[in-house]
Amino acid sequence: MVTEKAGNVSASDFLPRNRSLESLRQAAKSCKGCDLYLNATQTVFGDGPGHASVMLVGEQPGDIEDQKGEPFVGPAGRILDRALEDARISRDEVYVTNAVKHFKWIWRGKRRLHQKPSVRQLVACRPWLEVEIEVVQPDILVCLGATAAQSVIGKSVAIMKERGKFIDSVLGKLTFVTIHPSAILRQRDNDDREQEYHRFASELKLVKGKLQSLSAA
Ligand code: URA
Ligand code: SF4
Repeated sequence: MVTEKAGNVSASDFLPRNRSLESLRQAAKSCKGCDLYLNATQTVFGDGPGHASVMLVGEQPGDIEDQKGEPFVGPAGRILDRALEDARISRDEVYVTNAVKHFKWIWRGKRRLHQKPSVRQLVACRPWLEVEIEVVQPDILVCLGATAAQSVIGKSVAIMKERGKFIDSVLGKLTFVTIHPSAILRQRDNDDREQEYHRFASELKLVKGKLQSLSAA
């Protein structure tokens, strides 16, 4: 077995023996696998059915998720919900999680501004994602944006070039890459925002199509 170097703490030091989703979720509450637990309100573990055909992987919880303790329940989550509905992917068949389970942020005025996790933090948190995949056994992993893709695929990915495609990943599952729904929110112009949204929803439709072909096979 590959073990972390001495002094190199990661989430793997906090994994429970029992690999049910519930015991993983409980154990993740006290993870100190990297420094991000220090400034966050709580661990935001994945959410969804114990076996799901699709696992959606985001970057990390946002401000609202940090407060509520659930993934994708803020503005990006609303876009995601709408796009899943448009792609006719039922929330019941989807497990939603993040590459990193704690919110990384800095004060910007009165707002908690999101900060991108470092590669070290991504790697430290990946054991949680790996066991989620092991337990949930999704047919398709969907990376929402560059951070998720980096964690799942194991190297940095040019999202704008690779989006809308299935690509090989170190985690060995059928892996699809698309943008992060927050990228839609960042578009200033209404038309651009709508256009980006439709492209995102049409990419999720490709995932739906693949699911259908898998279940027909
Ligand atoms: N953005 C993410 O990547 N994940 C969330 O859970 C919320 C916003
Ligand atoms: Fe543990 Fe991940 Fe939180 Fe770091 S971000 S403390 S590895 S759960």
